[in-house]
Amino acid sequence: MTTPTIELKPSANPLSDAERQAILANPGFGRHFTDHMVTIKWTEGRGWHDGQLVPYAPLSLDPATMVLHYAQEIFEGLKAYRGPDGSVATFRPEKNGRRFQASSRRLGMPELPVETFIEACDALVRQDQDWVPAHGGEESLYLRPFMIATEVGLGVKPAGEYLFLVIASPAGAYFPGGVKPVSIWVSEDRVRAVPGGMGDAKTGGNYAASLLAQAEAAAKGCDQVCYLDAVEHQWVEELGGMNLYFVYGDKIVTPSLTGSILEGVTRDSLLTVARDLGYEAEEGRVSVEQWQRDSENGTLTEVFACGTAAVITPVGTVKRAGAEWQQSGGEPGEVTQRLRTALLDIQRGKAEDKHGWMHRL
Ligand code: COI
Repeated sequence: MTTPTIELKPSANPLSDAERQAILANPGFGRHFTDHMVTIKWTEGRGWHDGQLVPYAPLSLDPATMVLHYAQEIFEGLKAYRGPDGSVATFRPEKNGRRFQASSRRLGMPELPVETFIEACDALVRQDQDWVPAHGGEESLYLRPFMIATEVGLGVKPAGEYLFLVIASPAGAYFPGGVKPVSIWVSEDRVRAVPGGMGDAKTGGNYAASLLAQAEAAAKGCDQVCYLDAVEHQWVEELGGMNLYFVYGDKIVTPSLTGSILEGVTRDSLLTVARDLGYEAEEGRVSVEQWQRDSENGTLTEVFACGTAAVITPVGTVKRAGAEWQQSGGEPGEVTQRLRTALLDIQRGKAEDKHGWMHRL
């Protein structure tokens, strides 16, 4: 695999300090973008080439560009945090780089070397480091690496040309309500992914597939949809863009990776963080019946969602056809809060990084 260098062509007109500070005061999620982006091309027979860091700008695409028709696209999400000493570090970029390669394989796309993935993220964060929010708050800089098929043509086949990009967006809480509990609609008919499909790849198609069920959840007054497995329609899989954890007293359980669930980096990190804190942490199967029954009999004490964007978000109200219940009285549970603080303390450089997860720039 070729490993291209990234040529720096910075913007002559970045946003002023005052404009940037106004955005950082209330960034929301995914609404504002930094001054630059990284682009790297891939061409059949030539490999990766023309790595550049350039001013953030719209892309110009031929209307017949393959990604617009057959959705050959993959993406990642990771965050850069500012530590108490002002330094900047990203969280487990190597894990995202490896998952990006796995997604590439599933969608018949070329694999970007993990070191190039990390270098592209580093180059952007280094250039736009003033956009990394100050230490002390909930905010961070969200990085969105992605790759699209750029060959022009309407024949269905793996494209012969691709563009890899990284953009960055200062981010506050993913949900407009902040870290307040979210409500969940359990969809028992629509599915997100099927065995042998691409549910374990981070590709836009999975998110497009989630939108109708997400709209149905919203119509039921819920923030998020929860999917069950596509065969028996009873085993909990994941939310529209987040993994789930169930808390049974001192034990936490997350649905096993069956092939139709995305292997979340936060999900994986929490298995370790929980064990470090003395909890039992397991991957296993949880049915919707068990979820309802154990909530009603009080053995299931808390439920939370997790993901890079959502961090750890408590689940409050849960609705399914014919039933509705509350997790931990609709308040953030104690275990959820403890895990959230422990993970964020590592990410923000406030606690020892004993697993070597932080990548300092
Ligand atoms: C992330 O958590 O990084 C995602 O890609 C999920 C999306 C809902 C923003």
